Amino acid sequence: MVSVPEFIKHLSPYKAGKPIEELAREKGLSRIVKLASNENPLGPSPKAIEAMKSITSELHRYTDPYCYRLTHAVAEKYNQAAEGIFSAAGSDAILQYIISTFTEEGDEVLTSEGTFIGWFVNVNKYHRKSVTVPQKNYRYDLRALAGAITEKTRIIYLANPNNPTGTIFTKTEFESFLTKVPDDILIIYDEAYTVYSEHNPDYPRGLDYQLDNLIVLRTFSKAYGLAGLRIGIAFGHPAVIRELYKVKLPFEPNFLAQQAAIASLADDEFIKKTVELNTRSLHLLEETTDMLGLRRTVSAANFFMILFDDTESALEFNEECLSNGLILRPLGSFGFPNAVRINSGTDEETAFAADVLKRVHKKVIADKVSF
Ligand SMILES: Cc1ncc(COP(=O)(O)O)c(C=O)c1O
Repeated sequence: MVSVPEFIKHLSPYKAGKPIEELAREKGLSRIVKLASNENPLGPSPKAIEAMKSITSELHRYTDPYCYRLTHAVAEKYNQAAEGIFSAAGSDAILQYIISTFTEEGDEVLTSEGTFIGWFVNVNKYHRKSVTVPQKNYRYDLRALAGAITEKTRIIYLANPNNPTGTIFTKTEFESFLTKVPDDILIIYDEAYTVYSEHNPDYPRGLDYQLDNLIVLRTFSKAYGLAGLRIGIAFGHPAVIRELYKVKLPFEPNFLAQQAAIASLADDEFIKKTVELNTRSLHLLEETTDMLGLRRTVSAANFFMILFDDTESALEFNEECLSNGLILRPLGSFGFPNAVRINSGTDEETAFAADVLKRVHKKVIADKVSF
């Protein structure tokens, strides 16, 4: 047999939210709603679909490794220099490239407990030393993070809004934190859900901070509805971005993804609709959760966490939701075994989910309590 490094032996393949077809097969259900992966329930922008259709006859060509048209469209949209923009197959891929470019064996990377699992997956696959600090009340504790910096810290990862809590840290907290981070430590500011929170005056918008050691990540997987295509972007100092191009797979993101992303950026109406629907849907789901007396996080994104007294109740609640055709995300692997995550849906999906939550709550919690 070929040999496998010890640290690889201990890794497990990524387990995503349950696919709809899998649940349909298991339970023989005709109606299934998936609110488990923070996707946009509206699908891609119609402009993105048109743009992809228009280039299918060119798919025999390799793409431009520098993604010229895409980086220039992004530069124009956000008023940034194109040399400071990098794109790859999802922000997950960009995290991988950042770790492989800016760290070596023995270095430490620092973040909060209870944050995006993809960060830890990438850190572990490069066998880097992960240092974490606890959250405070389901929020990043930036003061504790600054206090955990050591001479070996090379990267600090921040997701704002955070996944899976949906919570944010504020401008004041962020600005105070920045004064405590030495400028040879790279800060990754992951704004996967920024479209949902940027209207909040307390939310620190990454692009407002032009620091040499700050990389801002955005993705087309969430509000832009292109999760299946795999495309994300990074904004950073041109000297930092130049290094990333050395490790990037040359022909990602694929051609369809680049075209779809360019068209999506021009569709402000679609983003407006997306944000409005999210506000409406989350409001109804939050209202339902509150009415049932379930604890939850206060979200600035398109999802929130429902908290149970113990792991067993969370798992039972999740299983019952599955039996009723509602796919949620259990959060044991994120460090919250007593919680599940739910995201916004279409109006129809939201009504379905609210109904399932009520029925499952009655069966799993209310009827037990009254016993
Ligand atoms: C905070 C955060 N960052 C990054 C990602 C990954 O996005 P992508 O699909 O671009 O890899 C996610 C997806 O769940 C996320 O929640």
